[in-house]
Amino acid sequence: MVLLSFLTQFAVGTNLLAQVPLVNSFALHGRAAATLDDFIASESPIALQGILNNIGSAGSNAVGVALGLVVASPTKENPDYFDTWTRDSALTFKALVDAFIAGNTNLRSLIDDYVYAQAQLQALPNPSGDLSDGQGLGEPKFEVDGSAFTAPWGRPQRDGPALRATAIIAYSRWLISNGQTSFVTAVTWPIIANDLSFIGQYWNWTTYDLWEETLGSSFFTTAVQHRALVEGNALAGQIGKVCVACGQAPQVLCFLGSYWDGNHIAGNQNEDNQRSRKDLNTILGIIHTFDPSAAHCDDTTFQPCSDNALANHKVVSDSFRTVYSINAGIPKGSGVGIGRYLEDTYQGGNPWYLGTMAAAEQLYDALYQWNKIGSLEVSPTSLAFFQDFSPTVATGTYSIDTTTYTTLTSAIKAYADSYMALIQKYTPADGSLAEQFSRNDGTPLSAKDLTWSYAAFLTAVAARDGVVPASWNEPSGNTPPSVCAGSTATGTYVAPTATAPLPPCTAQTTVAITFNVADTTTSGENVFISGNITALGNWNTANAVALSAVDYQAEYPRWFVTIKLAAGTTFAYKYVNEGVDGSFTYEGGANREYVVQGTCATEVQIHDRFQT
Ligand SMILES: *[C@@H]1O[C@H](CO)[C@@H](O)[C@H](O)[C@H]1NC(C)=O
Ligand SMILES: *[C@@H]1O[C@H](CO)[C@@H](O)[C@H](O)[C@H]1NC(C)=O
Repeated sequence: MVLLSFLTQFAVGTNLLAQVPLVNSFALHGRAAATLDDFIASESPIALQGILNNIGSAGSNAVGVALGLVVASPTKENPDYFDTWTRDSALTFKALVDAFIAGNTNLRSLIDDYVYAQAQLQALPNPSGDLSDGQGLGEPKFEVDGSAFTAPWGRPQRDGPALRATAIIAYSRWLISNGQTSFVTAVTWPIIANDLSFIGQYWNWTTYDLWEETLGSSFFTTAVQHRALVEGNALAGQIGKVCVACGQAPQVLCFLGSYWDGNHIAGNQNEDNQRSRKDLNTILGIIHTFDPSAAHCDDTTFQPCSDNALANHKVVSDSFRTVYSINAGIPKGSGVGIGRYLEDTYQGGNPWYLGTMAAAEQLYDALYQWNKIGSLEVSPTSLAFFQDFSPTVATGTYSIDTTTYTTLTSAIKAYADSYMALIQKYTPADGSLAEQFSRNDGTPLSAKDLTWSYAAFLTAVAARDGVVPASWNEPSGNTPPSVCAGSTATGTYVAPTATAPLPPCTAQTTVAITFNVADTTTSGENVFISGNITALGNWNTANAVALSAVDYQAEYPRWFVTIKLAAGTTFAYKYVNEGVDGSFTYEGGANREYVVQGTCATEVQIHDRFQT
């Protein structure tokens, strides 16, 4: 079911995925020459598919991965990301839950798989501990078969349970409003309750940060912990439960405020290193705790349009202007490649796709909020941010009907788009998103097909389209006590019982595989598929299988054919062009490989591009 014609979902409703046309337009050559809108339209299905490919057990890049687990990337060496991280998985599934709620109903069974897989991981003893006192929940990553990862690592990482709670709470709220409260009570709440207990008990303990390098306190971790406690409390109330841990929320919020250092947010405190503290983790914390229902641009929770969050956006993004050659000469107020922090050397210490898109997403969120509120405020704190767009702007509140509002917001929209234009520029022709792009020339680097990069693309584009996530009750959860204090609530932890794989299905013995290849051809040419199995002609072009061009369009030059293959078949294949003179030419590059998975899916779509 997972991979079953997800493209059909693009026809549904006004949702995230409906923003792209039914027929997507792969820009095969000259991606950079297309407009940003064209790029986004062609990249959106690629990004969604990039995520699905990395999820077990049916994903094409997830061979051997257990049901519902997400690999960070298929790259197995330098760096080895073929493991499942609680953080990356939760951020990915939050994006999928939002897409599901917005109308992509195909994603439902995958979300259920995720829920059950996480229930099992919660109960698994690991090097961080086990569930008896909750410490095992701080384990950052697991093997792809769902067993514990036992090598040394930066552990614990205390953002994972919060992000997981947020993803499953979003799903649970949908379930409740669709009459399925009993499923929430029996299946999702026990998982959420463990994660909330963990936060309430350990929020004031040190943690490795999201980059797995710094032991201390991380803004991102504290921000997502606060959010989870607030929305967890609301969910508990909806189903008649009490969340003792959630009573810690005001103190967590108080601590969150202490990251503000006067002109930007300190990415870390209590830490064991001497970095500048200008850190992408702040912008990520801001976008992942955005609440579109907030009535004003709340500084307390660092809402994207708040003075502090805007000032921080400028400080953090400006910090990258001088460290990367590819940013040289780009004026302030125009997007640049954004990395993790300026002193970063990991895998060369380059800009990250997800960082650059997060910088755009915060601005899209702010624009959404100003438009909803009907005004924007330029304060002494945010003045420098706004001066990049209007050097003479004065502090004050500008209502939506003023010229200043229009001038500033259109310039900020262009600024946000300029970050996305860099993504367009540095995305290779096949649309794949790696982890980083070279600080010198923009070449994709480090892990390929990074799940989080694809998820970041989906959330940035949704924000750009004004498709915002559900509220997490920010307006009701933002009163910190007058004096901050370290505190804790001892949690209760119960192994979730509903651990059976879902949904019941028969593993298929035969799967109908549709090979789609984008190949710009001229009249009279044909496209075939050839491979090392009988069904593909055993590499004999005389027995190769012809593809159909009935759906061929200039924007998406689609050739396709559906072939039924037995589960377990491992094969190599290539596409072959038949010229007007009848000669056959194999596409370039290495042989493609595929393993037919015997899962619930009866049909699978493969999307390739003809390699020249
Ligand atoms: C614990 O909370 C107190 C009060 O907010 C804060 O000063 C301290 O830095 C926190 N420590 C950790 C490790 O979170
Ligand atoms: C076809 O190629 C795949 C991938 O290289 C290989 O694993 C498989 O054994 C081959 N099958 C046959 C029948 O040669």
